[in-house]
Amino acid sequence: MLLEVKNLNVYYGHIHAIKDLSISVKEGETVCLIGANGAGKTTILQSISGLIPKHSGEVFFTDQDITQMKGHKITQAGIAQVPEGRRVFTNLSVLDNLNLGSYSIQDSVENKQKEIERIYQRFPILKERSGQRAGTLSGGEQQMLAIGRALMSRPKLLLLDEPSMGLSPIYVQKIFDVIKNLHDDGVTILLVEQNANIALNVADRAYVLETGKIVKEGTAKQLLNDPDVKVAYLGA
Ligand SMILES: Nc1ncnc2c1ncn2[C@@H]1O[C@H](COP(=O)(O)OP(=O)(O)OP(=O)(O)O)[C@@H](O)[C@H]1O
Ligand SMILES: [Mg+2]
Repeated sequence: MLLEVKNLNVYYGHIHAIKDLSISVKEGETVCLIGANGAGKTTILQSISGLIPKHSGEVFFTDQDITQMKGHKITQAGIAQVPEGRRVFTNLSVLDNLNLGSYSIQDSVENKQKEIERIYQRFPILKERSGQRAGTLSGGEQQMLAIGRALMSRPKLLLLDEPSMGLSPIYVQKIFDVIKNLHDDGVTILLVEQNANIALNVADRAYVLETGKIVKEGTAKQLLNDPDVKVAYLGA
């Protein structure tokens, strides 16, 4: 396993947001967490990345215990998160936003420059808009920038929090094409989505989350054909 989360519990004050959660992601897989608003999807990603504290449980990454590791160490270990709502630095240029993605990574200037070139190949629009303020990009372009910024740390595992949120259907499709391409290139992905239909179409496996608990898991195909999932998440 590349990532293994065991019996994770997270609280916000008295609110028990994540309840004894165990999930795993194999190298090369795209795994999706689906769940309604408030189910705890963001909380799971934030606690894996070390951005919010874990009450109990363990997280292993590349067989290393990262449960107590600080956020920047977790980035260095190879996990990068694309946050919900993209969170690009709107007053900085596209290029400066990309450079911030490798800020906590120890690598040569040449290698960081090469990574920028690779990201520009993947997202030609970012090259075109390189000197432009990120706040002037469209929502879909900002999502690409947020993904590019995360790729700057050359992660072994990419955490994506609702990449399709608020985008037009065309951009939703474009973002999911990007996710498919990353998957084909061997990037391991843990994807969080409310748009279960499209997410299950790119994922290998998925977990269904309800009020902080996994209630179902299986291959994406199994869940796409699951009667309960169809009614609750696929609009059947
Ligand atoms: N900072 C916080 N303080 C208190 N409660 C919080 C905080 N952040 C989240 N919660 C609560 O924890 C639960 C899980 O929230 P979380 O944001 O992880 O859900 P989510 O599945 O990502 O939802 P969404 O689809 O709306 O993004 C919710 O009940 C939420 O109200
Ligand atoms: Mg969320």
